[in-house]
Amino acid sequence: MLLISRQDIQKVFTMRDAVEADKRAFQMLAEGAVDVPLRTNIQAPSADGCFLFMPAYAESMEAASLKIINVFPHNAEHGKPVCPAQVLLIDGSTGEIAAVLDGNTVTQYRTGAASGAAFDLLAKKECRTGALIGTGGQAPAQLEAMLTVRKLSKVKIFDMNAERCREFTERMRQTLDAYEVSFETAGTSDEAIEDADLIITVTPSETPVFDGKKVKEGATVSAVGAYQPHMQELPPELLVRASGIYFDSREAVLSESGDILKPLADGTITEADLTGDLGELLLGRIPGRKNDKEILVFETVGVAVQDLVAAKMIYEKAVQCGSGTAWKSEN
Ligand SMILES: NC(=O)c1ccc[n+]([C@@H]2O[C@H](COP(=O)([O-])OP(=O)(O)OC[C@H]3O[C@@H](n4cnc5c(N)ncnc54)[C@H](O)[C@@H]3O)[C@@H](O)[C@H]2O)c1
Repeated sequence: MLLISRQDIQKVFTMRDAVEADKRAFQMLAEGAVDVPLRTNIQAPSADGCFLFMPAYAESMEAASLKIINVFPHNAEHGKPVCPAQVLLIDGSTGEIAAVLDGNTVTQYRTGAASGAAFDLLAKKECRTGALIGTGGQAPAQLEAMLTVRKLSKVKIFDMNAERCREFTERMRQTLDAYEVSFETAGTSDEAIEDADLIITVTPSETPVFDGKKVKEGATVSAVGAYQPHMQELPPELLVRASGIYFDSREAVLSESGDILKPLADGTITEADLTGDLGELLLGRIPGRKNDKEILVFETVGVAVQDLVAAKMIYEKAVQCGSGTAWKSEN
């Protein structure tokens, strides 16, 4: 069994790899080529936490995976990570556990790559300006994914925590300098998005994080944060203006995301407004962008097949490059 750390992953896996992995994952999902039971959620009331188990199996890849990602909010008070996570990669022909991969790193890559895949498939070819709302743990990979699939000259960044926003922007200037983009902090979320061709929201907000009227024609928006029915980042009027609403998994989004569930419930949008999954677009079953004026929206809540495909690709590259630490199990 191989233990694959964050550093090991960064040595062998790029954001471009992650985008290709997610596209493959979304396509497999649309083809029905993957078994993805709903995630199991076990509450741990005494610690005010919960355990989340996310399994997936793809016979065609001879691989299964289980991501364990636990949410323990009080860990922050003790300087521990709030969402400890690992991914187990399993050999589909023997059932042996082939690898344990740093779960936060896999999550960051595959979640960033969902936005990357959506922009790659849905955005205008010529984009100049990006906007990022939310500068927490997922944000660096989101930003890198945006820059991986389109050549931008400027990204405006906003977070309700101004200090965190400034610190993040400075850090990105250093870590993403190879992309030769100007990063600016915005004073408000509307200032961040009003001239943007590409917009990412990645916050745990329960109310819309910008004004939908301010989004310019031709923009593509990726909404990442709202993975529960009470959460909401997207202004409903944006969904009314949008010519297409796409998903990683329509089924998962319709069981989890307040971004879509709330405006569906109050009749602002109807199911007829929902276009379909990125995987269906990849298979040519639904249309993509028709012109440079349309506003298109992508909603992602995350599906376990993304972890599976990313983990398998990382594992194969790590084996090829001799990365990771071998650990011999007795069974
Ligand atoms: N779609 C997926 O696959 C997926 C995967 C992982 C995480 N997530 C979700 O993405 C969200 C962000 O994750 P994270 O780990 O980066 O969170 P985080 O807690 O590390 O950071 C969230 C940031 O959002 C900011 N914020 C909150 N409300 C805001 C608002 N209204 N406007 C502007 N900024 C605001 C906070 O100040 C904070 O800096 C969470 O809801 C998380 O559950 C989704």
